[in-house]
Amino acid sequence: MRKKVIAGNWKMNMTPSEAVELVNTLKPLVNNPEVDVVFCVPAIDLIPVAEAAKGSNIQVGAENMYFEDKGAYTGEISPLMLVDAGIKYVVLGHSERREYFAETNETVNKKMLKAFEHGITPIMCCGESLEQREQGVTMDFIRQQVKVGFQGVTAEQAKTAVIAYEPIWAIGTGKTATTQQAQEVCRDIRACIEEIYDAATADAIRIQYGGSVNADTAPDLFAQPDIDGGLVGGASLKPDFGKIVNYK
Ligand code: PGA
Repeated sequence: MRKKVIAGNWKMNMTPSEAVELVNTLKPLVNNPEVDVVFCVPAIDLIPVAEAAKGSNIQVGAENMYFEDKGAYTGEISPLMLVDAGIKYVVLGHSERREYFAETNETVNKKMLKAFEHGITPIMCCGESLEQREQGVTMDFIRQQVKVGFQGVTAEQAKTAVIAYEPIWAIGTGKTATTQQAQEVCRDIRACIEEIYDAATADAIRIQYGGSVNADTAPDLFAQPDIDGGLVGGASLKPDFGKIVNYK
């Protein structure tokens, strides 16, 4: 049985002092040992959030990372820095990074390999635009994102990875995909992983749904056989996140 993983994606919100306040508010609300709870936060918040989360079930993740260990890459954050700060997860290839910061399947792949090299669990995002959905090429597009993203990743590594299926048209729009739409794509992503690797890997990998998840939609979504939790943006900044983590 796969353990659910419910992650907040704070995006570019919360100053360090606001971040600590939010962690202190949410700490008692997200206490659910049946679920892996991850707060993915801006780079400058990582250390204060990790400190504030100590002694709780909250694990901390970064929202991005570079694919080199160190060097002349002004403004980037290296995996070594994340490991040293006790960071266990990293979001890779979020659609906002792909759209505004020129992230490609190839750079996501390099970052995936780097994350595994350093024992950081990647949450690799994929998902189609509204236009692609209407053109009927949703799975063609996502299969390419997954296949290139996982190039060179071993089955043992893939088993520990998290994939977040986030239809772009559902992010920050208040338009959640229907439970059926979300389940269908997550099922097809699992089939794609089975095709690349094998049934055991497909069975182990965790696939989240993301895109306007809230306390009302979470229970149905997370009850689906191929949805192993969620990547939550807006609602992760509010006490509602506690309800999402305790969706049952
Ligand atoms: P949202 O964001 O929940 O605000 O739609 C989800 C995400 O982008 O990860």
